[in-house]
Amino acid sequence: MTQPPEIRIFDGLEPLSWAAATRLEEQARVKAIEKKPFSVALSGGSTPKLLFELLASSSFQGRIRWSNLQIFQVDERCVPPDDPQSNYRMIRHALLESVPLPAENFHRMAAERPDREQAAREYAGELAQVLRPAPGEWPRLDLVFLGMGPDGHTASLFPGSPALNERTEWVTPNFAAHLNSFRLTLTLPVLNAAAHVIFLVAGADKAETLRQVLEGPEGRFPAQLIQPVRGRLSWFLDEGAARLLKKQ
Ligand code: 6PG
Repeated sequence: MTQPPEIRIFDGLEPLSWAAATRLEEQARVKAIEKKPFSVALSGGSTPKLLFELLASSSFQGRIRWSNLQIFQVDERCVPPDDPQSNYRMIRHALLESVPLPAENFHRMAAERPDREQAAREYAGELAQVLRPAPGEWPRLDLVFLGMGPDGHTASLFPGSPALNERTEWVTPNFAAHLNSFRLTLTLPVLNAAAHVIFLVAGADKAETLRQVLEGPEGRFPAQLIQPVRGRLSWFLDEGAARLLKKQ
């Protein structure tokens, strides 16, 4: 990573989500002008939901050329797509049901499948088909939205979990011991191959971990391992999450 991370602090989840939606809209427009597809990967959890609703709202929907977007998932819980825990279900309700994105442009992680390794391989196949990396290269997403848990996890890369050490596969199943459940997740090399990674972090319950992630010793938390190799890293924070950070 060449330049220091961009850190922006907002006085609430609404302005944070608005700024994230604006960033997506701006970058998607540049790609549309270049007549190139724009690829973005979305996380689950609660923080990005408002961003998705904003993108589907009249404030943004008409300003995005949806047919030019290719939308992927960062990770998924190993539950059926209509399960309340499903990230896909949240994304569908908050975004997909309200925007003119061609169905084939959304790439769902079929994490409910019993053969998780096979589901991971097939998802890697979709990444390859759309992003067309050169042989031996990692697929390069234009934009990735990540979250961070109070334990410093991101995507479904939990502290001490096996997938943190994955350096070959693009997508992998990962067992979350503390949740006693499996997830499918993009791996660190794929996340770090992206052109731009934006963390969306809100809530005072994450402040201490965020202080350690941004200002503490390196390599202690999965979120610290997100270091785009040839890309940009941004942290969009609300005041609650940023409250323990040194003055920016
Ligand atoms: C998931 C996510 C995960 C999420 C963090 C933060 O499937 O849960 O992709 O990595 O981003 O857990 O979640 P919140 O936004 O709900 O705090």
